[in-house]
Amino acid sequence: MSRRRQIYEGKAKILYEGPEPGTIIQYFKDDATAFNAQKKGTINGKGVLNNRISEHIFTRLNHIGVPNHFIRRLNMREQLVRQVEIVPIEVIVRNVAAGTLSKRLGIEEGTPLPRTLIEYCLKDDALGDPLIAEEHIACFGWASQEEMNEIADMAIRVNDFMSGLFSAINIRLIDFKLEFGRIWDGDFSRLILADEISPDGCRLWDMDSNEKLDKDRFRRDLGGEVEAYQEVARRLGLLPEGDENEVLDLEQHRKKRGK
Ligand code: C5P
Repeated sequence: MSRRRQIYEGKAKILYEGPEPGTIIQYFKDDATAFNAQKKGTINGKGVLNNRISEHIFTRLNHIGVPNHFIRRLNMREQLVRQVEIVPIEVIVRNVAAGTLSKRLGIEEGTPLPRTLIEYCLKDDALGDPLIAEEHIACFGWASQEEMNEIADMAIRVNDFMSGLFSAINIRLIDFKLEFGRIWDGDFSRLILADEISPDGCRLWDMDSNEKLDKDRFRRDLGGEVEAYQEVARRLGLLPEGDENEVLDLEQHRKKRGK
């Protein structure tokens, strides 16, 4: 664990001051929450897996020109990222009906949507991250119209890229959540992708069996959470073949060596 100054502790991550101005260290915890933290638990090894999966996706997104906060992974649970001013909006991208969309509109889970749907929620735990319209965003000035256009463009690019990435490993990308942040240069700011992309904030279904390989295993008490996250990491080529517990063993091993 880092001895640097803690800036913020969230539900799944802790943020520490980074080594240089304008940088932050993201520490990935094993804590899991659902339904606005009404359900709490621990998924042993989740932080290690999410750190690796998010590193992989953000690095690849950088290669295709989607600007993001990722700088480099520091160790099993920490990554160095650029400090941003978080836009207080959760951007949900949906390809297939599931979760709150299914509940809200009575659409059976698993129904493909006629087109990709982007929804916005206000990032406010006390209010339970309510669904908002673009009208609310404009009315209350949470983001400018120019920023909203950029957010929608980037969200679609991320969706195209991730749908391909996952379909190549026999996983259907049902939906996911993105967060964006501003980087200021004097009076001007630009938007970059921030936070994390991992099975905590995506719905990932096996294409053949529809088995859930994401946080719904925890939300719905399905069990096998860490195995599902490991399966995603393994298919992405981030785990050595064979040894199921390799990631966790690796962490124990490094801890013993004091790294
Ligand atoms: O719960 P809901 O169906 O609205 O979630 C849509 C997608 O956004 C899911 O992949 C879920 O994991 C993600 N999400 C999230 N954090 C939230 C709300 C949703 O990662 N606060």
